[in-house]
Amino acid sequence: MSIGVETQTRRVTLEDITNLCLRRGFFFPSGRIYGGLGGFFDYGPLGAEMRRDILNDWWTYFVERREDIVGIYGTIITHPRTWEASGHVESFIDYIVRCSRCNFEYRADHLLEDHGVKVIEPTRENIARLIREHNIRCPKCGGILSEPEAFNLMFTTYVGPKKTRANLAYLRPETAQLIFTNFKNIVFTMRVTLPFGIAQVGKAFRNEISPRNFLFRMREFEQMEIEYFINPKKMNYCPFFEEVKDTEIYILTAEMQEEGIEDARRITAKEALETGIIENEWHTYWIVESLKWLWSIGLKPEHLRAREHVKTELAHYAIQTFDIEYYFPFMGWKEIEGISNRGDFDLRRHQEFSKEELHIVDDGEKIIPYVIEPSFGLERIILALLTESYHKVQNRLILSLHPKVAPYKIGIYPLVTKEPFKGKAREVYRMLGTKYRVFYDEKGSIGRRYARADEIGVPLGITIDGQTLEDNTVTIRFRDTKEQIRVPIERLIEEIDKILNNWL
Ligand code: GAP
Repeated sequence: MSIGVETQTRRVTLEDITNLCLRRGFFFPSGRIYGGLGGFFDYGPLGAEMRRDILNDWWTYFVERREDIVGIYGTIITHPRTWEASGHVESFIDYIVRCSRCNFEYRADHLLEDHGVKVIEPTRENIARLIREHNIRCPKCGGILSEPEAFNLMFTTYVGPKKTRANLAYLRPETAQLIFTNFKNIVFTMRVTLPFGIAQVGKAFRNEISPRNFLFRMREFEQMEIEYFINPKKMNYCPFFEEVKDTEIYILTAEMQEEGIEDARRITAKEALETGIIENEWHTYWIVESLKWLWSIGLKPEHLRAREHVKTELAHYAIQTFDIEYYFPFMGWKEIEGISNRGDFDLRRHQEFSKEELHIVDDGEKIIPYVIEPSFGLERIILALLTESYHKVQNRLILSLHPKVAPYKIGIYPLVTKEPFKGKAREVYRMLGTKYRVFYDEKGSIGRRYARADEIGVPLGITIDGQTLEDNTVTIRFRDTKEQIRVPIERLIEEIDKILNNWL
């Protein structure tokens, strides 16, 4: 079945997406009745369903169907030593500049970027120099800007009634560290052997100086992370590499960026490994596996690339990092997932700070494993999915979401909104509702009902019409092609299963 859409896909703006989300109940600014709170968004009913489907699909793909990955679900408020060990207390900072006249504060590197100045090395000295050299003033009032000041992005709170330094705790800025602090618990309770992974999904909090671009830079968001532990001597022994070696991916290396090349190269995983672009088999495998999942939920391969961090961009813990970037027509290429080789940095640091031994035995040897970390941001993926699927066709909006992530899978419509059509439609609704997330709509003309469903990405519509009453058949309407087929009700579930399972 062809499900193509004849469209001008790439004309979508951030305003289009924001308006759709507000109008149809995907997302709302949190505390909207009080004017909203910057960087915080509540999921509306449709967003909440999409979230659930993405998280479930991710968990099935990366945890349930694999023998080598287990999951945890850790706390949001975490022991403060965790973040001293991880380096976040010291290094998780951005630089602020303040206007001397109106006191407005800006994230310094963003301000420079807004003036077309690329910040390659975001140190205090470099930022101060670039602001001076480009004579950048306060965009609001033209006032002179202060020297850059370091600002730690972690939200703090106090545990217990006393508000003293000793009671200070942090809301986790990433879920990853909980995996490292639970490493020993998992090794002891789950009898895992290398190589193995620990996965976690959950909220992360960052007090971003300038949250912006809707779901892209938030202060409270959700991550889906895996820490995959490997014997450092076996980074090139990935038993699954055969499965991915011929998969082609778009890649932009650090070297290409240093030469000013902006377009990614399309190469196979094997080539990326053999030419040394990606340093080892496991890292290559996880890049491809991540991309395969992102493709499977509806992001086009040509809109995704793996971009290597240049040296000055690398986080303090990373040996090599690739960002999976999605091409947003309104922002350009932007990170939706990071995949780092974190080496043994985290386990060694936690071992040092906690004085607990954090090794595992492999081949009779005590070792601290290396880690490859695929780290996905849920809301950025949702923003990418909405962008990818937003199509205007002759002034009608079609959200061509993959059924896996569509908030509703099927709409049920009596053609005529009176009995016996309504009763029959309700019967079909109850039958399909046992298997899929469906909705019933009898309000307005059938054309209006189809249009409302297309706008929120409902892949299939079932219409109960005059012929249904004669021969117990209904029509299935395809959102993207408007094509309709007629199917007996007793074969409806079987037919829908076939369509949804073979959706491309
Ligand atoms: N544990 C590694 C880590 O946290 P990161 O690149 O800082 O790495 C991983 O974050 C992912 O989390 C990003 O690729 C992005 O999708 C998401 N993310 C990070 N900061 C975010 C923010 N302020 N708003 C929304 N998503 C964010």
